[in-house]
Amino acid sequence: MAIRNLRYENDEILKKTSRQVEKVDDKIQILIDDMIDTMHKYNGVGLAAVQVGILKRVIVIDLYDDNGPIALINPEILKTKGEQEVDEGCLSFPNQFAKVVRPLEVTVEYINREGKKEKIKAKELLAQAICHEIDHLNGIVFVDKMIPGTLEYIEPEENK
Ligand code: NI
Repeated sequence: MAIRNLRYENDEILKKTSRQVEKVDDKIQILIDDMIDTMHKYNGVGLAAVQVGILKRVIVIDLYDDNGPIALINPEILKTKGEQEVDEGCLSFPNQFAKVVRPLEVTVEYINREGKKEKIKAKELLAQAICHEIDHLNGIVFVDKMIPGTLEYIEPEENK
């Protein structure tokens, strides 16, 4: 388990499309563990592998509730329902927040870290987080789809 270096906003890798994972092997398990550690260190609710410089379709999510951290490999959105206008940030864009329109509900198929196919139906914050991270796998970052004029820079409390 290790903290990996984050890639930040001007890094060209964030615009690249990540590749499908062919086999859930030890390397993927280590990647997932490291991604969870890295997400926790920076108090994120989600992280995509590209944000630690790995172009593989792997995301991790943790809403800090009973569901614990989850890892989604090769996630595909099967269905969306409704819309929500939400405030959003990203560990690759420190201190920046903007409003984005996301689906209110999504049904996503993915492979879990045991290598089994699973389906999750998510709504509200979980739907938002999953959509944000899947966008990363397609080279899309939240500022690409923010509602124009809503970008704000907010200094963390300890720096005030
Ligand atoms: Ni992000």
